[in-house]
Amino acid sequence: MTRITRHLDTGPSAIAEAAGLLVQGGLVAFPTETVYGLGADATNGRAVVGIYEAKGRPRFNPLIAHLASFELAREQGVFSPAAARLADAFWPGPLTLVVPKAATCTVSEIATAGLDSVALRVPDHGVAHAILAATGRPVAAPSANRSGHVSATTAAHVAVDLDGRIDAIVDGGSTQVGVESTILSCLGDRVAMLRPGGLSREAIETVLGFALAEGPEGSGDEPLAPGMLASHYAPRAQVRLDAEGPRLGEAWLGFGGVGHGGATVAANLSTTSDLTEAAANLFGMLRALDRPGITAIAVAPIPSHGLGEAIRDRLSRAAAER
Ligand code: TXA
Ligand code: MG
Repeated sequence: MTRITRHLDTGPSAIAEAAGLLVQGGLVAFPTETVYGLGADATNGRAVVGIYEAKGRPRFNPLIAHLASFELAREQGVFSPAAARLADAFWPGPLTLVVPKAATCTVSEIATAGLDSVALRVPDHGVAHAILAATGRPVAAPSANRSGHVSATTAAHVAVDLDGRIDAIVDGGSTQVGVESTILSCLGDRVAMLRPGGLSREAIETVLGFALAEGPEGSGDEPLAPGMLASHYAPRAQVRLDAEGPRLGEAWLGFGGVGHGGATVAANLSTTSDLTEAAANLFGMLRALDRPGITAIAVAPIPSHGLGEAIRDRLSRAAAER
């Protein structure tokens, strides 16, 4: 499966070309505020199959449908009062809502993996918005990386993983948030966290006025986000969490003032202990530290509040046995 990958800028003719490729069933990587997405027309089952092939992704894993507005999202899903309140407060933004499919839902069964729910998101990024508006239909887009790899936060990361496998990459620079969207399930009266991400639990609970139920680790009355495989977001090197310092042969990924202990390969997620900055740096630094000869990446302790919850989630998946 070889394709010629066009490298596009973000001018009006490039946006039109990207949208044209999507409408014709092509695969186009584009920036969102969280990470780069690998887009296909969500209503076109054959196009969606192409995403799974390009990523090497297991078929059972459903995709997020991206839309230009909440109004368009309402055609795809049924919003409970709580879901509507969240969409009003946080869209466009780094939040995905899993809701029951609407009768008018046009997202293909392949994109929803046959579930009767659909994951919807309105991204907060000018380029993503322009492409979605020009495409005029839901666009399925997982993170634009080979399945199991670290997500892409620049067009260059996308190219390393997917050049020659997709039709175009739209280069909109570095993504701002740096971790994927927070996913909430809004299927009944409860709202459950399926994946921590770029919108903090605290911000969500403030709008809801009640605490989130737990999704993934729970006793099973909420569906899992099937993509929450334990070993995910994995660099080649092993990852060692909550380290006090690097051991011989390890790279060091610091946070705040903790020193790098003489490691020759080192980076710091945020010298000022800013979790938002750390999230934005996470995937790029994991890629940069994952060099030949490095046995493991040792990571300084990261607090679990705010975006720290998503950062710790991604790091513990990177550290999982594989
Ligand atoms: O920030 C993001 O969310 C990025 C950008 C590109 O928008 N996208 C992204 O997509 O992270 P992906 O495919 O890597 O993750 C989507 C997650 C998967 O864990 C999948 O299992 C879950 O969403 N998901 C999708 N539809 C679902 C559904 N109906 N019920 C439960 N989980 C669902
Ligand atoms: Mg992903």
